[in-house]
Amino acid sequence: MSKEAQKQQAAEAALDLVENGMTLGLGTGSTAAFFVSALGARVRHGFDVKGVPTSEQTRILAEKEGIPLTNLGDAGRLDLTIDGADEVDTSFRLIKGGGGALLREKIVASASRKVAIIVDEAKCVDHLGHFPLPIEVVPFGVRVTQQRISELLGVYGEGEVNIRLRTDQFGEPYVTDGEHLIVDAAFNKVTNIEGLASSLDSMTGVVDHGLFIDLCDMLIVGSDNGVRTIAKS
Ligand code: A5P
Repeated sequence: MSKEAQKQQAAEAALDLVENGMTLGLGTGSTAAFFVSALGARVRHGFDVKGVPTSEQTRILAEKEGIPLTNLGDAGRLDLTIDGADEVDTSFRLIKGGGGALLREKIVASASRKVAIIVDEAKCVDHLGHFPLPIEVVPFGVRVTQQRISELLGVYGEGEVNIRLRTDQFGEPYVTDGEHLIVDAAFNKVTNIEGLASSLDSMTGVVDHGLFIDLCDMLIVGSDNGVRTIAKS
């Protein structure tokens, strides 16, 4: 089964968590897009939900699908967020932000009673770090911030560290919905993930980062052997 089919399978299984009347956080990326499309089909059959999109990309898709939207200010606490991830480890810690939406994704996940993460099997890893960690930074002083991130990863990472400013298809710096830049930090392996996350949290110039710790309650994994749903105990 292809990765895309596994993603779709996980996304469709996540619909079982959605109840009439819920306000939902809508994730970003190709897996979350499968979920938004499946939810749209339910809404067109009379399902009553509201969504808070985690990116402009998701907002456009949700509107096209006819899903009523609201914002965090009006919604307050969300019932459930369904989102994808780039990597998931055995402690339900995530790397997110491959699609550039990590800041809004983290704000929405933090405002949710429950977060379910939908992934294909290849995203499940023993140690986070194979996927470069996206770090959202302010444009002012970006080179200095990049240098400080590099030094920090020298302390926390094992093996070679490679820091790169993300660019778009035209070779220009990639700009997020919040008008920040993204630095992708490849570090092979980090044993103290919590330490790295809190050091990045307190680094001037860093807006946020793609380490999501204690923000996933349930994993829904699409695989060749069907869908596996694992709740965090
Ligand atoms: C978006 O910023 C990301 O956090 C996505 O959730 C993540 O990159 C997964 O994307 P795919 O579902 O496209 O693999």
